[in-house]
Amino acid sequence: MCAATSWCACANWRQIPCSRSRAGRFSPAPGRRRHRVDTRVFNHPEAVVQGWYWLARSREIRRGQVVPLRLLGRELAVYRGDDGRVAALDAYCAHMGAHLAEGRVEGNALRCFFHRWRYEADGRCSDIPCLAGQARPQISVRCWPTAERYGMVWLWTGETPADDLPEVPELAGKACDALVANRFRKRCHPNVVLINAIDEQHFASVHHLPGSILTMEAVPRSVSNIEFRNLGKVPTSKRLGRLLARFYQGPLTYTLSYWYGSLGTVTLGPDFLHLHLMFALRVGDDGSTEGQTLALTRQRRGPLGWLVNRLLLYGTALAARYFAWGDTRVFETIRFDFRHPIPADRAVLAFIRHLESQPLARWHEIDRTGARPRPTRMRLAGTDQESSDG
Ligand code: FES
Ligand SMILES: [Fe+2]
Repeated sequence: MCAATSWCACANWRQIPCSRSRAGRFSPAPGRRRHRVDTRVFNHPEAVVQGWYWLARSREIRRGQVVPLRLLGRELAVYRGDDGRVAALDAYCAHMGAHLAEGRVEGNALRCFFHRWRYEADGRCSDIPCLAGQARPQISVRCWPTAERYGMVWLWTGETPADDLPEVPELAGKACDALVANRFRKRCHPNVVLINAIDEQHFASVHHLPGSILTMEAVPRSVSNIEFRNLGKVPTSKRLGRLLARFYQGPLTYTLSYWYGSLGTVTLGPDFLHLHLMFALRVGDDGSTEGQTLALTRQRRGPLGWLVNRLLLYGTALAARYFAWGDTRVFETIRFDFRHPIPADRAVLAFIRHLESQPLARWHEIDRTGARPRPTRMRLAGTDQESSDG
């Protein structure tokens, strides 16, 4: 029997495997019986899970342009070189800390405005004009892996991406068309926004769906990815239900694929036509959610295929808008505190448990290459004065 008696008893009762977790995970204080879910990652704004996060729309970073961006509390200088590729560097110059977005793009490199040091896309300093012809110290600023897809620029919050960019499971490996839909803000953590879409109870209470229509099953796919599938069928006790049921051979299609606790895809619709959405979320400075919704569909050929896809994408974007703006009232005022989980929360609990085991990024650490100003002791000529470059 696990030491986390109170929690584990609940977990077994919910048919969720007991997690022999690290301290602070799902464990009540010794000797105390309680049901609150204690976490170290879930709903913690400072915990950044290693993964892909949306940075900007592709069109917001033109060729030869550098823009200042702030992601998860970190300042970045993001630019598109002559080769069309987007590079993301820590914002502050390794020399004196000038913001590199004040500089300019030169070929595929970025030149600091202040003393004109030049940085390559991998962060290496490749030119210090005043040292022309002399040995140049090995200096760099931190660079972050980027990728572009679905009309968006994405950043991986680690050294080397462990995953490809997330895809809708049904569209995996297929060429697809995307529509960048609305950007939104919610006054709660992205984890809380994501659990809303797997919260069976609220579909009945808020969206007035029949109680048994959604029964979510959690299927972990990898360290970073968990899928939720609906097992519920359209109830046929009423005429509308009987009509709808004709379009579903099995359960009502409602499948979600969650990555890093901050990105989710949703597939829904009758058997003959599935619509696909992506919600890319990140924590803003005040702990709220900055979200971007995308509509996706497989590529269709020819002018008719183009037209069909436009209609599908705009229709999906409307559905995305409903998802994004629905429940707004709750998200404006909620102080999330999961004190009393019940069996109907099992999908939410599975999400939290999966998230708690995902690797964290060393995102807030100071870069030892000098990307961030840090205090130093420096002897000024002819004095014993202490100074700093911060
Ligand atoms: S601060 Fe960038 S070159 Fe001096
Ligand atoms: Fe909702």
